Amino acid sequence: MGKKTANILFIGDVVGTPGLQMVSHLLKGYISKYSIDFVICNGENAHHGKGMSREALHQLREAGVDVVTGGNHTWSNFNFFDTLKSDPAVLRPQNYPRGAYGHGYGIYDMGNGLGSIAVVNLQGRTFMSSIDCPFRTADWVVKQVKDKVSCIVIDMHAEATAEKIALAWYLDGRVSAIIGTHTHVQTADERIMRKGTGYCSDAGMTGPHESVIGMQVKAATDRFLYQTPHKYECAENDVHFSAMLLRLDTETGKTVGIGRIFYPEFDTGESLTGEK
Ligand code: FE2
Repeated sequence: MGKKTANILFIGDVVGTPGLQMVSHLLKGYISKYSIDFVICNGENAHHGKGMSREALHQLREAGVDVVTGGNHTWSNFNFFDTLKSDPAVLRPQNYPRGAYGHGYGIYDMGNGLGSIAVVNLQGRTFMSSIDCPFRTADWVVKQVKDKVSCIVIDMHAEATAEKIALAWYLDGRVSAIIGTHTHVQTADERIMRKGTGYCSDAGMTGPHESVIGMQVKAATDRFLYQTPHKYECAENDVHFSAMLLRLDTETGKTVGIGRIFYPEFDTGESLTGEK
């Protein structure tokens, strides 16, 4: 009888070369430390802070990533379109209008005799483009894959926390886990919902945190101060690795454990709760 649980690592938005280097540097160590069977990674900002590229994809795959998910910035680098169309290891949100190229979900072998997992990429609509409904799209995808796999993990790339939480209640018990991306700030609300779906509002950013969500501070603050465009450049310093760990029961597809990784931790000064 084989192993009954699968350990999944879900890496939050990898930003630019600093983020890619952090993944290359740390991922193999995490894979062995936590006996990771399968790695999902949001890479929509891996190409110099915006979009994806073949080089970034190659680096992530070499580091140990199995599937790279995307979001609104997936479409930013025109040179990546052919790869997006043809490489099953790259996903873009499923709920873009029909006919948009690329794939929004895929079924992958987890190896180690664990069977298959479906990875689904969705995108929110609140404070974002008015694409197709992520809720109804999720219904459709679940219908396509549920007879083929027990484990289904969703990357919900969205701005609004409420939209992500609503999706978690909507899909509770029908998918293994829903992990949010896009805000680049890791949230501390990881939990297992009532019917067994693992959830966290945002996996955070693997990238430079001496920044405004990955971009150099001056251009970002000037945008707010003057309400005019200022050229974003990817930041470089204070790089952290931000990810979620999931343990899935491969028979029921439910999450049996969920945890956060944020390395190194931020400096929070003196311990105020006595828990450090
Ligand atoms: Fe995004």
